[in-house]
Amino acid sequence: MSDTRNALTTTARELVAPGKGILAADESTGTMTKRLDALGVESTEESRLRFRELLFTTAGAARHISGVILYDETLRQRASDGTRIPALLARRGMIPGIKVDTGAKPLAGAAGETVTEGLDGLRERLEEYRELGARFAKWRAVISIGEGRPSRSALSANAHALARYAALCQEAAVLPIVEPEVLMDGEHTIEQSEESTEATLRAVFGELLDQGVLLEGMVLKPNMVLSGYGCSRQASVEEVAERTLALFRRVVPAEVPGITFLSGGQSDELASAHLSAMNAIGGVPWELSFSYGRALQAAPLSAWSGQEDNSAAAQSAFAHRALCNGEARRGRYSEALEDTRPHELIS
Ligand code: 13P
Repeated sequence: MSDTRNALTTTARELVAPGKGILAADESTGTMTKRLDALGVESTEESRLRFRELLFTTAGAARHISGVILYDETLRQRASDGTRIPALLARRGMIPGIKVDTGAKPLAGAAGETVTEGLDGLRERLEEYRELGARFAKWRAVISIGEGRPSRSALSANAHALARYAALCQEAAVLPIVEPEVLMDGEHTIEQSEESTEATLRAVFGELLDQGVLLEGMVLKPNMVLSGYGCSRQASVEEVAERTLALFRRVVPAEVPGITFLSGGQSDELASAHLSAMNAIGGVPWELSFSYGRALQAAPLSAWSGQEDNSAAAQSAFAHRALCNGEARRGRYSEALEDTRPHELIS
């Protein structure tokens, strides 16, 4: 086995190790600023670092967090003790990763749709990111459901870019997380979510195969199949789990080592419950895991609210969400866990 292939499959295995998942802490400065503004906290390089360092240094985080996706700014920052953030994560048993796309931009000729940019110069940026300690990367394509959407052109442009990104990552021995997110905002039904997610995944896997991407050396980060958040019929946890798994069985090749779902604006509790229900059904060839942003960070962010004195409460809130999702990885999440603090379970 070549060294590159070996590095990719090892990273994949570690990222989707049983009981663990990924923390997506790669909000762009604009997005992070919105989250901090909502709490009345000024967004500065320093405040963004303080919150993120607090998450990364939570005692026992690596029990349930295998890797952390960083934004460019954080990858280059140093923790309070002077350690570079990627080194701090690695020392604490978590793999550092990096968001490499430069955002979703309006797609010409397709009103209301976007294509994700960032391919220019990506080979060189990956080289630098690897030197800075990143072992995996992320690229997010955004697909929306609505009148005439998703269009064929949005599906093919985004799938093409995802596959070019993935091939460049693998050339650099950096594991690509392939994230085609079908947004769940809107009044669409769960049937429409299923149809659009299927079309998206078929387009993505077609391009990945055409461009020679090694499926064993990547991780898929998709949305779950949900009712649109504004839809009058909200599917049950069981229905979401069954539909999502049935769809993935049809379209995701068995060679893919793991599926790490995004939370996509679900409540913290539903993000854990849906993942747990899927793992309880099981019988699939891939690990079913999480790569959550909001569903891991909303609780600690609000507990912290920019106050140093709240750090312990924020770390406890983060450890709790990590634990709930770690249990969901094993199909063992229940509502009762919501009332349990981590130290009561970790002995
Ligand atoms: P959410 O879990 O908040 O959807 O974020 C995951 C992510 O990384 C989006 O790109």
